[in-house]
Amino acid sequence: MAGLDPRRRQYLDAMGIEVWVSRVAGAAAVQDSPPQNRQDPPTAEPQSVAIPPGTAPGLNWDALRQRVLNCTACDLHRTRTQAVFGVGDIRSNILVVGEAPGAEEDRQGEPFVGRAGQLLNAMLVAFGRPRETVYIANVLKCRPPNNRDPLPTESVCCRPYLERQIELLSPRLILAVGRVPAQNLLNTDEAVGRLRGKVHRYGPNGIPLVVTYHPSYLLRQPQEKKKSWQDLVLARSVLKSV
Ligand code: URA
Repeated sequence: MAGLDPRRRQYLDAMGIEVWVSRVAGAAAVQDSPPQNRQDPPTAEPQSVAIPPGTAPGLNWDALRQRVLNCTACDLHRTRTQAVFGVGDIRSNILVVGEAPGAEEDRQGEPFVGRAGQLLNAMLVAFGRPRETVYIANVLKCRPPNNRDPLPTESVCCRPYLERQIELLSPRLILAVGRVPAQNLLNTDEAVGRLRGKVHRYGPNGIPLVVTYHPSYLLRQPQEKKKSWQDLVLARSVLKSV
């Protein structure tokens, strides 16, 4: 198949996605345009003044990371191995937001490195923007014991960190994977099934936000992968239109 790299083809197969080829261009229809070069987002110098735990005003990437890694704002710091800040290209125009680190992420200090991460990687490759070309972060930076749902107080404590990550990255698209990031970022209690399939807006700058299923859910319900592919197609259309 002309124009489609074999690694991507393999991922698309794993996602159960049929690839079609444009007769005009002869290129695979899932192919994406290369990431655009973007300026570094403006960052502030690390602050030397004491700022309360769970806040992150004006911090640059390094200072924010340090703040998160040393955070004791909620009780999750007592049970974590380490905080999981985020990973990826800080110049990316795409932010993927998940729920919280699981056991493997807590061990390795990186989001989405377990089984769900493998599927997320496949989704991102199918989307045309492999893992290393996006930025990935979670609502919670520390693992909730036994992978329980985040408590509202924990999300509130962590919220400034994600908000600052979004400010620093200033993405053109936020992809919220799963109920927790979707509900947190959109401030709603609607189910994912009702939130997906449309373009939402996040924050004062109205950043386009698309909701899709969490890869862990897709591992349990593989028949929903089709819908998640439709969400990725919607997300791609957003990137093309802004
Ligand atoms: N699930 C998430 O939502 N985030 C991770 O980092 C890992 C699993």
